[in-house]
Amino acid sequence: MLNALPIRDPDPIIRLMQIYQADTRANKIDLGVGVYRDAFGTTPIFRTVKAAEELILATQETKSYVGLGGDPAFHAATRDLVFGSSVDAERIAAVAVPGGSSAIRQLLDLARMASPMGRIWISDPSWPNHAGISEAIGAPIWRYRYYDRETGSVDFDAMMDDLSESSPGDVVILHASCHNPTGADLDLDQWDAVADVLGQTGAMALVDAAYLGFGQGVIADTEGLRTLAERLPQMMVALSGSKIFGMYRERVAMAFAVAETPKIARVAQAGLVSLNRLNFAFPPDHGARVATEILTDAEMRADWEAELGDMRKRIASNRIALVGALEIALGSDRFAYLAEQRGLFSILGFDDALLNRLRETHGVYMVEDGRLNMAGLTDENIPLVAAAFAAEL
Ligand code: LMR
Repeated sequence: MLNALPIRDPDPIIRLMQIYQADTRANKIDLGVGVYRDAFGTTPIFRTVKAAEELILATQETKSYVGLGGDPAFHAATRDLVFGSSVDAERIAAVAVPGGSSAIRQLLDLARMASPMGRIWISDPSWPNHAGISEAIGAPIWRYRYYDRETGSVDFDAMMDDLSESSPGDVVILHASCHNPTGADLDLDQWDAVADVLGQTGAMALVDAAYLGFGQGVIADTEGLRTLAERLPQMMVALSGSKIFGMYRERVAMAFAVAETPKIARVAQAGLVSLNRLNFAFPPDHGARVATEILTDAEMRADWEAELGDMRKRIASNRIALVGALEIALGSDRFAYLAEQRGLFSILGFDDALLNRLRETHGVYMVEDGRLNMAGLTDENIPLVAAAFAAEL
């Protein structure tokens, strides 16, 4: 039977990770997969995560199952982080899940249970797994225009035009902050206008929140999605803890569905819990427990925000340093827009042939469309990257 399997190719991010790992050159530069890196090129464990882990190690008495939906304390802590007081907790259904991709998967599956014919609207461009998951569940994918390559900012009129074609039963995937891959975010007035248009069409927002704190600040980065939660009868949020706690391999995440009434929320809760049971039964707990300790202890929470603040500053200063180095190397301000964007990623619009040359000749790794992970830059490699671009552009 297995000989009948169709061949499935990995998505562009995973494919690039594999090529990078197989490359034996010592001077290769990884600007590919979206993990945070410090000035030494390592992905450190947060000191708050270490502290919380020590506490758990000393005090945890059992590793028996938690509930199918995860630990209620994790629910409360992350619900507060994401929504604050923007919506009544009784209207929120939520389950812990293994990672942000699972959160997207469970929420899209939930939406399909309610609306089997609904379309999934995905920004053009977007993180490849949004389309990958939508395709895997057999949902029709519609693209909405998002990015203006001339200005390096959101093509908001085009986005609004496209979203005005959405309908009840559709899901519109939005990025809470640090849009992946463009680094171009909506401002608060634009979030308000998105709430208007979804209020009119009846489509449901699903906000992918993977980079809270990487844009303007932890709470500042929730303001857009909180606007939707306040103003719309229903919406969903996929919260990933991979980047914001640096717990990539622990698979820490929550799937939230905000319903119009507490009664509908209870039905959504049963739906989400059953999806957990059917797909993986119980969610992982270790990372969730670490996150809960950090979020609920005032001192640790402040220290965690300080850690995120340092990371945010490093990414912003890498952006400025790269723009400066490229201005000198290329004698043009073609890439000045990078300094205005936020988060780990921006796209340079490079085609595959150029990306191959950069990789093969210079050992510089970037994802398709020239998506570049700003945290992969260091004082040492910025001049090398700029020289590689100057040689190939
Ligand atoms: C990325 O966009 O590189 C990260 O979110 C990692 C992933 O799973 O794709």
